[in-house]
Amino acid sequence: MATALIIGASRGIGAELARQYVADGWRVLATARTEADLQGLRHSGCEAFKLDVTSLTDCAGAGWHLDDEKPDLAILNAGVYGPHTSGLQAPDQQTFDRVMQTNVLAAMRLLPMLLPMTDAAGGKLIAVSSVMASIEMRQNSAGWLYRASKAALNSVLRDVSLQTQSSICAAIHPGWLKTDMGGAGADLDVTEGVQAIRRTIAALTREDHGQFIDAIHHQPLRW
Ligand SMILES: NC(=O)c1ccc[n+]([C@@H]2O[C@H](COP(=O)([O-])OP(=O)(O)OC[C@H]3O[C@@H](n4cnc5c(N)ncnc54)[C@H](OP(=O)(O)O)[C@@H]3O)[C@@H](O)[C@H]2O)c1
Repeated sequence: MATALIIGASRGIGAELARQYVADGWRVLATARTEADLQGLRHSGCEAFKLDVTSLTDCAGAGWHLDDEKPDLAILNAGVYGPHTSGLQAPDQQTFDRVMQTNVLAAMRLLPMLLPMTDAAGGKLIAVSSVMASIEMRQNSAGWLYRASKAALNSVLRDVSLQTQSSICAAIHPGWLKTDMGGAGADLDVTEGVQAIRRTIAALTREDHGQFIDAIHHQPLRW
């Protein structure tokens, strides 16, 4: 039985990834921050443990929970958007720290910990980024703190990809999906979007390694 690890599975894309992998017969290790969300994941058939990705203690605890695990797939999905700015409003320190710690520092702690595990399985290590990270494709400054954090996440993923023995590592844009973050006006509902994301992840090959990929259309994105 294949094993998937989904970090940030309480709601939105992460919850639907967990649900669909369980339905497909995978063993799913899933994380959430609250006891209620952990119970919900367990009721859905996941093995769940607490992980606030901004907590050093929880990140160390994740290493303990995952001892001896060799996941075929590990997805770092947890993320926050931060302020919905349209111009160049500087974030306050606390807001900056929250977004950067969630989207970047957590990746610098967790991805190096996960890499030997996916290496051991010859598996896939995925960071959920956003097309908003792309510097080359950028046409407006909306959400510039989020953009900066996801651009930094892409940099982290690329560095991680240079250290692997055998994993396929990729930063993915999950599409614009109807979640709390994506909003009701997004392109796709989360069920349909996650079906496409899973098809793309399943089809990733060595050619995709270290790349930034549109997971709805399985196409490379410009950094
Ligand atoms: N939806 C879109 O259109 C879209 C587009 C591009 C990229 N993305 C990316 O896709 C990923 C999932 O987004 P979504 O749309 O599903 O967002 P969402 O509905 O807002 O869900 C965010 C998820 O991240 C978790 N999370 C946030 N901070 C965390 C922390 N400190 N520790 C652990 N988990 C934390 C949340 O857990 P709690 O419930 O505990 O808060 C929740 O499970 C994010 O990385 C996002 O940037 C989404």
